[in-house]
Amino acid sequence: MEDLERDLLIYKGFYFQRKASITGFLENIDDFEIRDDDVFIVTYPKSGTAWCQQILSLIYFEEHRKRTENLETYNRIPFFENCFEDIDFGSRPSPRLFATHLPYYLVPRGLKNKKAKIIYIYRNPKDVMCSYFHFLNTYPIFKAADTIDAFMKQFLEGKVLGNLWFDHIKGWYEHRNNFNIQFMMYEEMKKDLRSSVLKLSKFLGEDLSEETLNAVVRQATFESMKDDPLANYENALYLYFGSKLREGHFLRKGTIGDWKSHMTVEQNERFDKIFRKQMKDFPLQFIWDVNETQN
Ligand code: PPS
Repeated sequence: MEDLERDLLIYKGFYFQRKASITGFLENIDDFEIRDDDVFIVTYPKSGTAWCQQILSLIYFEEHRKRTENLETYNRIPFFENCFEDIDFGSRPSPRLFATHLPYYLVPRGLKNKKAKIIYIYRNPKDVMCSYFHFLNTYPIFKAADTIDAFMKQFLEGKVLGNLWFDHIKGWYEHRNNFNIQFMMYEEMKKDLRSSVLKLSKFLGEDLSEETLNAVVRQATFESMKDDPLANYENALYLYFGSKLREGHFLRKGTIGDWKSHMTVEQNERFDKIFRKQMKDFPLQFIWDVNETQN
């Protein structure tokens, strides 16, 4: 725990990145002035945040789509609570787009007027856990356990940025009627990116031409993003953390079911038991295996 407290700051029961959090900002989040056309991408870490940032950047900014401006997605759609740079959110033109890992109870109360939009992306938690494990062992964000078994314990105790995965998704889902929110599943996006982009654009009230839709889909695939320095987060993470702990990439695999090559049968059973208990009666479905997407 000591290492965790060195890197993370606990505020109102939620872990924030100490290095990136300005306490004065955190204290005033509740009062942060929301505009009717603000859009928030909300995720538990490693669930498809950067992917959705890229999709929205492509939808909203022609200059991003046509590559006529050299601005990275994390600058187009900044992280709300991680002030990597001193961004004055108040002076940003509308529509303002944000990404956040905040739980439902910490977001600005202005979001409850149900005008501003929220996109909540969720992913099966075994893949989230494996993605998180690699991410923390590549980038020095906070101390991660160095075996999957030890990290599983840390993850299932919620001793990570984002806290407990179960609480995050259940909190947002159970309070969905307080917000103007669209739930999107990572695995559905993977299965059918085109339909997912259409669903998102409909929710956002953005009418995309066939040409724009094609461009968004083309540039939001894992392969395109991996090669795109404006979308793959390599520069941002380099600027922020400097060297890596070991070789690896933010856009690592982008697949469904990678947990199968990480977890033993016993670990999987242990995970399932906790999942069943925690998610009893939870109505959203999850996709655990790439074969489930082939119908
Ligand atoms: S973070 O650090 O919380 O912002 O991470 P986040 O962006 O939420 O999640 C990173 C994982 O999303 C994968 N990713 C993608 N998968 C499929 N298609 C596309 N286009 C895509 N873009 C990002 C990324 O590779 C991380 O997952 P893993 O499993 O580690 O590869």
